[in-house]
Amino acid sequence: MLTTRPRGTNDLLPDDSYRWRALEGIIHQVCADYGYQEIRTPVFEHTELFARGVGETTDIVEKEMYTFMDRGERSLTLRPEGTAPTVRAFLEHKMYAQTQPTKLYYIGPMFRYGRPQAGRFRQFHQFGVEAFGSNDPALDGEVICLAMDFYARLGLKNLNLLLNSVGCPGCRARHKELLHQYLEPRKEELCTTCLGRFERNPLRIFDCKSDVCSQIVKGAPTIVASLCDECATHFQEVQQYLQAAGVKYELAPDLVRGLDYYTNTAFEIVVEGIGAQSAIGGGGRYNGLVEQVGGQPVPGIGFGLGLERILLALEEQGVDLVQGVDPDVFVAVSGPSVKPAAFRLVAELRSQHLKTEMDYLNRSMKAQLKYAGKNNYRYVVIIGEEELAQNQVAIKDMSTGEQHNVALNGVVSYLAERLSRV
Ligand code: HAM
Repeated sequence: MLTTRPRGTNDLLPDDSYRWRALEGIIHQVCADYGYQEIRTPVFEHTELFARGVGETTDIVEKEMYTFMDRGERSLTLRPEGTAPTVRAFLEHKMYAQTQPTKLYYIGPMFRYGRPQAGRFRQFHQFGVEAFGSNDPALDGEVICLAMDFYARLGLKNLNLLLNSVGCPGCRARHKELLHQYLEPRKEELCTTCLGRFERNPLRIFDCKSDVCSQIVKGAPTIVASLCDECATHFQEVQQYLQAAGVKYELAPDLVRGLDYYTNTAFEIVVEGIGAQSAIGGGGRYNGLVEQVGGQPVPGIGFGLGLERILLALEEQGVDLVQGVDPDVFVAVSGPSVKPAAFRLVAELRSQHLKTEMDYLNRSMKAQLKYAGKNNYRYVVIIGEEELAQNQVAIKDMSTGEQHNVALNGVVSYLAERLSRV
């Protein structure tokens, strides 16, 4: 127990962390290119924010939240997603008073109590963007392009962008009626969760994973068929922008997404080859959410991409992200008496940004050289007692095997020059 991590969580070991750093680097870059600025919100929020924001009838709120009372008897929840917290921060910091649109992005852990399996974790990470203050379909286009551009920059292939519109509350009300008519005769067959959803939010039944419910909604009237003129035009225009940008998509009339706040555009990106949890990202418009959370009506659109799933897909496709560069210098010592001099030299080299290490295990000179070779150090500085007495050290170029004597006070410039750090 003490030596096992909680189910559904991951340790990021050094062999993985360079991938995460590379991934994060690309995220920061692509967001800078598109004019999105980073926001960091707390990992827990008032429970009410998610209940209201994400929706009472969603799986997330009904079954998956990590909710706890703190010592002051407040109900708090580890964030299951990043949109509601970003909306909360947008309102709390009156960002709506700035020039719009407000374009934000975040990278961070999210928490959902689901059944862990390949690609589904209880703590996972999302890269998300949220853009507020414009209902322009071109902004929908931009947000979707940003996601697709990000995947392309990673080198990810075989993606499928699924696109739908879930309309406005008016379209939803019309659709709800049609759905009720359609579902009524088979109502008793629905699972207990969906039976509750039937009254409150029948659209959510499209999101049910049970075989019976998915079978029942097959052939049900889809929301696109109920779109009002305004929503239909918006949807058309989003598609025109995507076509203009050369982004391929597939219309998915039964895509409803697992969160209640969506209006109009809804999309999901799936990838082949990573198993059942193939959604590597999803998002959409949420024109009612800001008001729902307590502000004036402000339109918004965004996405969340699952970083663990993206890394799984990259691995599956044999794409490696840039490895951290090899270390530069290993300072090897003949024995304990020269260690203080080695220690000082290591500090000087590091101050010049040369990645430098020394021996902490009192290994023999031979073992130190073997270690440096195995770990891809470019140079080894060899400090011997007699040589040091004459302010001399030897420097071995590990790629050629050549060795030269160098004055102790010339070591830093000798190496900095050869490692192009001057
Ligand atoms: P979501 O579809 O619930 O949307 O999650 C987005 C992505 O997070 C999924 O496509 C998936 O890649 C990843 N993900 C979700 N759950 C897990 C899990 N248990 N383990 C691993 N990865 C997971 C949202 O969260 C919305 N906030 C997206 C959004 C932003 N919509 C508008 N703005």
